[in-house]
Amino acid sequence: MGSARIVVIGTGYVGLTTGACLASLGHRVTCVDVDSLKVARLAAGQVDILEPGLEELVSRGLATGRLDFVVGSRQAVVDAEAVFLCVPTPMGAGGAADLRAVEAVIDEVAGALPPGCAVITKSTVPVGTAQRIRGLLGRTDVPVVANPEFLREGTAVGDFLNPDRIVVGSDDQPAAHWVAGLYADLAAPSVVTDAASAELVKYAANCFLAMKLSYVNAVAELCERLGADIESVTEGMGYDRRIGRSFLKPGPGWGGSCLPKDTHALVQVAESVGFDFSLLSAAIQENIAQRDRIVAKIAGAVGGSLAGARVGVLGLAFKAGTNDLRDSPALSVTAMLAAHGAEVTAYDPAVGGEQPGMRIVDDPYQTAKGADAIVVLTEWDEFRRLDWTYVAELMHGDAVVDTRNLLDPQSVLSAGLSWLGLGRPRARVLAP
Ligand code: UDX
Repeated sequence: MGSARIVVIGTGYVGLTTGACLASLGHRVTCVDVDSLKVARLAAGQVDILEPGLEELVSRGLATGRLDFVVGSRQAVVDAEAVFLCVPTPMGAGGAADLRAVEAVIDEVAGALPPGCAVITKSTVPVGTAQRIRGLLGRTDVPVVANPEFLREGTAVGDFLNPDRIVVGSDDQPAAHWVAGLYADLAAPSVVTDAASAELVKYAANCFLAMKLSYVNAVAELCERLGADIESVTEGMGYDRRIGRSFLKPGPGWGGSCLPKDTHALVQVAESVGFDFSLLSAAIQENIAQRDRIVAKIAGAVGGSLAGARVGVLGLAFKAGTNDLRDSPALSVTAMLAAHGAEVTAYDPAVGGEQPGMRIVDDPYQTAKGADAIVVLTEWDEFRRLDWTYVAELMHGDAVVDTRNLLDPQSVLSAGLSWLGLGRPRARVLAP
């Protein structure tokens, strides 16, 4: 396929990545947002999202004239061949996805779309949304296509340009094939199907990942109780190609803008058709229990009571490589520590400003001053390289709780500190 005229509505991390990457594939892309300040910044090449490679792609798109940014979707779509909806679909009442932003856009563009222009959902939307959009559009000459994204924050550009697969679904099959063709330059298999199946792929995949993590976190807990080592257990599991090696790292729980929202939404969707998805509900419960267990572990490390304890927290983002705090397990753990009376000082290389219940500092060593415990909650690489002898000098106590199994235990232990990971026995760690 040659170059297509594309409009992307919404310039969050999904929309902006989609727009900039489609432009880099040779398409002519206009990105639209309601926030005029944001549009002005983007038009000047300024990207506020921490996403490696994105700013370069935006600058290149602007320089080649293949990418531009405007306010107002109605005018933007008049000569479009494809319109991608990349607006937020947050968790609404009862866990269901809130589609008001999608509906508002449809309302605005419905009368302006040229005949044959494909309306494509990129944001994660409940199964049945394509059909609902068709109804809202009230047009039979405009195909509606579901084309879910599988972008991880922090690696979104790489994920877009090197995808595992392209999933496209529509009840208008030629339109679905045409949309799949927009990605023809990417070396990835495509699954072209009906709209409901494409919509469900996204939920089924994300929820599977969430269940995998809850499972690993539960196995890590078992390891602690049985004296096994989660690193060896997951290594042994991961060689089984049916399981795979990725997404097997225990942590303080899964968070971010997608997995929590999507798991709740799928439980809700299942409920709406009379199915109790108890397997998935249990994974959500396990994720809550994991945070409680982490807090109990920290309490144990400071002698049983958190009241008055000084805790230094390393990492607040929901994962490394992003400044995103949405549904961050690190934030819930720190909030629980504060609620139990701990004095929390936190450092995150990508997060500044203020957060309730803690003091945020701009140097990791400041978290150690007078601390009874240091707790690693986000897997930032720079924490591996801390001078633990210096940390030990600054601390009051000696506990290092590493909820990401990130640090080299030996370097922590040889500084005279104690190291407590997840699912890892202390004694075996010390063995040469
Ligand atoms: C996720 C999906 O991976 C992506 O396909 C989808 O499009 C959006 O949601 P993202 O939310 O950016 O992406 O983060 P991801 O890298 O999947 O991590 C999710 C959470 O799981 C984070 O809190 C992370 O720290 C945690 N995690 C991940 C682990 O605890 N262990 C792991 O091994 C992997």
